[in-house]
Amino acid sequence: MEKPLTVPEAIVAFFVKTMTPLNPWRFCVAPMLDWTDKHCRYFHRQLSRHARLYTEMVTTGAIIFGDQHRHLDFNREEHPVALQLGGSDPADLARCAKIAKEWGYDEINLNCGCPSERVQRGSFGACLMNEPELVADCCKAMLDAVDLDITVKHRIGIDKVQDYGFVQHFVGTLFDAGVRTFIVHTRNAWLKGLSPKENREVPPLRREVAFRLKEDFPQATIVINGQVEDLATAETLLEKVDGVMMGRAAYKNPWVLSEVDARLFGDEHRVPTREELIDSMTLYLERVAPTDVHATRATAKAMIGLLTGLAGARFYRRTLSDPAAFAATGTGVLKAALASAGWAERLTDDRRDDDEF
Ligand SMILES: Cc1cc2nc3c(=O)[nH]c(=O)nc-3n(C[C@H](O)[C@H](O)[C@H](O)COP(=O)(O)O)c2cc1C
Repeated sequence: MEKPLTVPEAIVAFFVKTMTPLNPWRFCVAPMLDWTDKHCRYFHRQLSRHARLYTEMVTTGAIIFGDQHRHLDFNREEHPVALQLGGSDPADLARCAKIAKEWGYDEINLNCGCPSERVQRGSFGACLMNEPELVADCCKAMLDAVDLDITVKHRIGIDKVQDYGFVQHFVGTLFDAGVRTFIVHTRNAWLKGLSPKENREVPPLRREVAFRLKEDFPQATIVINGQVEDLATAETLLEKVDGVMMGRAAYKNPWVLSEVDARLFGDEHRVPTREELIDSMTLYLERVAPTDVHATRATAKAMIGLLTGLAGARFYRRTLSDPAAFAATGTGVLKAALASAGWAERLTDDRRDDDEF
């Protein structure tokens, strides 16, 4: 049994705990292709000052040969923001890391979790878990190239093999190469026979693997990912690991982010109301839409879950999915959607309906 602390020890422990800055990965919003673009991240940032935000995966080829502005541009307000890279060539990754640094990203995250066939054909994503030495070389090349955090997002195994030693060796090899932060999607990736969507649902969730990694690598920052639906679950998980990454739940019901700062970071600042968010995002659109033809649609898509569970949510969503509404209202579409939901006057959260998004 643990010995109780003496009074001086308890005082020191209290100060160490309260004065130690919380680790920056304590709460993250997952990288999600076609979802977490810069407009979505700008919106999420209005809801939480502390959540760490991730870009969609961008391949090294897209950065080296493609339109860098299209792939890398972001709003300064999004910080802290991480660029997720897809690739497996150390020199290309180092080159992209330098470019990312110039663009102002705070972190580079290497994707070792995507199971899609297209990504497998490119020899990166989840299949890289079979090549820890190569991933270590990739990370070393990026660590040598830039003074940014280089992190890795990975699964806990490949296909149906449930051998803890496999992921332990993977993490250990990268730790030895200098990687300190691991985002662990606690499912295997089944490389054959499942779509990426099924690969987020069918392989069983085994959170105990992330807990064990934290025990085996106490100096590493272990961020757990997979099916974290609410902040109560996040709080419980944070007793065992350093951080939580939330994906679909944050996208489908973004209001969950409004409580992140107070509950997980002890920062009790006032969060904007939904009406204020609609106002500020409309101002944002008025600023960016003239030079970005996709901005209004993309922003509306990111905000479609804002009224999840509340009265009028169905009408709000319908307006934001209606091409005629965009044509008629342009950047005013968010306000039009709110009005169509009957939100002329302020509503309280207890006027709920059963809408499912
Ligand atoms: C639409 C969609 C796109 C995704 N794109 C990426 C991606 O680009 N990179 C990545 O590492 N994971 C991607 N993921 C996986 C998520 O980052 C996350 O690992 C997964 O959804 C499990 O977390 P969740 O249960 O909280 O959603 C994507 C997930 C979704 C739903």
